[in-house]
Amino acid sequence: MTGTSEPTPRLETAHYVLRPLTLQDATPRYLGWLHDAEITRTLEVDGPNQTLQTIRDYIASHDGTQKFLFGIFTKDGLHIGTHSFRWHPEERYATVGVMIGDRDHWGRAVPLETRARILEWAFGELGCDRVQAGCFSVNTPAIYNFRKQKWRLTGITKGFAVIDGRNADMLHFAINRNDWHA
Ligand SMILES: CC(C)(COP(=O)(O)OP(=O)(O)OC[C@H]1O[C@@H](n2cnc3c(N)ncnc32)[C@H](O)[C@@H]1OP(=O)(O)O)[C@@H](O)C(=O)NCCC(=O)NCCS
Repeated sequence: MTGTSEPTPRLETAHYVLRPLTLQDATPRYLGWLHDAEITRTLEVDGPNQTLQTIRDYIASHDGTQKFLFGIFTKDGLHIGTHSFRWHPEERYATVGVMIGDRDHWGRAVPLETRARILEWAFGELGCDRVQAGCFSVNTPAIYNFRKQKWRLTGITKGFAVIDGRNADMLHFAINRNDWHA
């Protein structure tokens, strides 16, 4: 995604703005998040091997029609994280993933507020029926967030990865349109 006009969709919440990332958003600050072992510990990303170019490639791999990479920005324009969103129109479901890279913004319910807006968009505008996500069994904050947002645990893949030298399961969560509107 290049060009000068702001990419769409632009989704706003009370405290944040979400919009697809552009190549200009591949900054040393963003790279620093991927080089932070505490952040990548619970992500499926090869953190140490990331460079500004791999970030650009990753951004460019999102076509803005079925694969979206939203940046999470504060209202004064500070980039603090990302939501990935993959839309499967034929099956009418999507998958999402979140990273709050700016650790000063942990503990402020950023994932809940911003993911709620993405769910509104997915269920309300895209015609999505179900949104899915996964997190490692060691990721207590992520599990709390899914529970708080009424996601359902739909499955567990045992021994999906080794984290801190121990087997970690992958927990699969989903929320459907009716759950969300209930
Ligand atoms: C996972 C992540 C998005 C969570 O960010 P966050 O929502 O700001 O995290 P918080 O610290 O507010 O924790 C979320 C909730 O879990 C609770 N929690 C966290 N650790 C806990 C623990 N050990 N025991 C009990 N509760 C805990 C928090 O209290 C909070 O609940 P509250 O709002 O009721 O206080 C963020 O840590 C991150 O981006 N991590 C790296 C990437 C990642 O793991 N992404 C998710 C992949 S699925």
